Amino acid sequence: MNPYQFILKKRNGGEHTAEEIREFILNYAADREVEAYQMSAWLMAVWFNGMTVPELSALTQAMIDSGDVVDLSSLPGIKVDKHSTGGVGDTTTLILAPLAAAAGATVAKMSGRGLGHTGGTLDKLESVPGLRTNLTSQEFLDQVKRIGCAVISQTGNLVPADGKMYALRDVTATVDSIPLIASSVMSKKIACGAECILLDVKYGRGAFMDNLKDARELARRMVDLGTHIGRKVRAVISDMDQPLGTLIGNALEVREAIEILRNERPGSALETVSVELASHLLEMAGIAPDLDSARKKIRELLVSGAGLRKLGEMFAAQGGNGEVVNDLSLLPQAAIIEPVLAPRSGYVTSIHAQKIGFAATALGAGRKKKSDPVDPAVGIEMAHRVGSRIEEGQPLAILHANKPETIAEAKELILSSITIGDEQVAPRKLIEEVIE
Ligand code: URA
Ligand code: CA
Repeated sequence: MNPYQFILKKRNGGEHTAEEIREFILNYAADREVEAYQMSAWLMAVWFNGMTVPELSALTQAMIDSGDVVDLSSLPGIKVDKHSTGGVGDTTTLILAPLAAAAGATVAKMSGRGLGHTGGTLDKLESVPGLRTNLTSQEFLDQVKRIGCAVISQTGNLVPADGKMYALRDVTATVDSIPLIASSVMSKKIACGAECILLDVKYGRGAFMDNLKDARELARRMVDLGTHIGRKVRAVISDMDQPLGTLIGNALEVREAIEILRNERPGSALETVSVELASHLLEMAGIAPDLDSARKKIRELLVSGAGLRKLGEMFAAQGGNGEVVNDLSLLPQAAIIEPVLAPRSGYVTSIHAQKIGFAATALGAGRKKKSDPVDPAVGIEMAHRVGSRIEEGQPLAILHANKPETIAEAKELILSSITIGDEQVAPRKLIEEVIE
């Protein structure tokens, strides 16, 4: 392997063979022959020159082969998984996983932690008293066999090449490359073992992709990649310009998921998107013959409380207090409740999701760097969505804080993220399109 020649080829716009990509990636992952500075240079060459379809498949397969793959073959049923590209108030997993499991799908899911302005499912789950996300592989498989779902942190050595490459991308301005994001996400999803993978690709000011054109291209490339590697993959492009849920913060998002599964927030944006995603999973798994009957089934499971009971079972199976679904006061509560008041009357014309996410981070709900702890109790309750009428002096949002010194920055971020105008604007569509 000659790393210099390999980098030169991509720099000059040439096309790699599958074999040379494989060698470069596996050598780098194993600390052989390829140095970090060479990987960095190649990543930048990819950032400028992109990758062809065969190159991207070879890259993704090599990344998968750098580590272990989860074997779900001992589990009954069709194994489904969902991945969100990340957002604010994006609590869909805690709603759709129990609903899909209650419908008969097998949900063996590995999730991540929050970073920057985005929340992470593991942090939310760990706000449930006693709940563990670090199950062993055997505990994970046993739980899914018994109750149909589990949501845990990564076990085993999955896609080590991605961890090493991502750390370089993070410090060399090469994160925002569509082929590099597509291979990073899909290598991990495929290594997690599910047969059906639903991608929730967010777009807007709280998402990786701020515009629809980029979101569409990322979705298309990920669907093609997964399909090529033999999985059933579909992508939904959904809005992340304003926060999806009403509550932002770890225990607060668990609370909203519970309230939705109690049918106490009918028609809310988070409920609508979660039901739609769960319905796609049922149809992809062949549990429902078409999308309409899938929606009907999921709605029934929501209204009957079957989804809520399944969520309580999942909490309890992972060592958490399953009573939380019946008694929200068992969740951590913040000491200070403080409203942010509207400076004028009018209509809410936009809410900047990323800034709302940073406000939640300022309160302690999120992380600025990977090693930061999170405060499960703190966060933000949004009082409005785009399009709604607001009167001067009424709350725009309500802060849940534990440290008085965090309040001023959060308030300022919230005030600067919400614009109020004289004309009512139509909200953006929640789901823009479906790609398969
Ligand atoms: N999320 C990932 O897992 N990888 C990326 O490259 C970007 C977002
Ligand atoms: Ca962009």
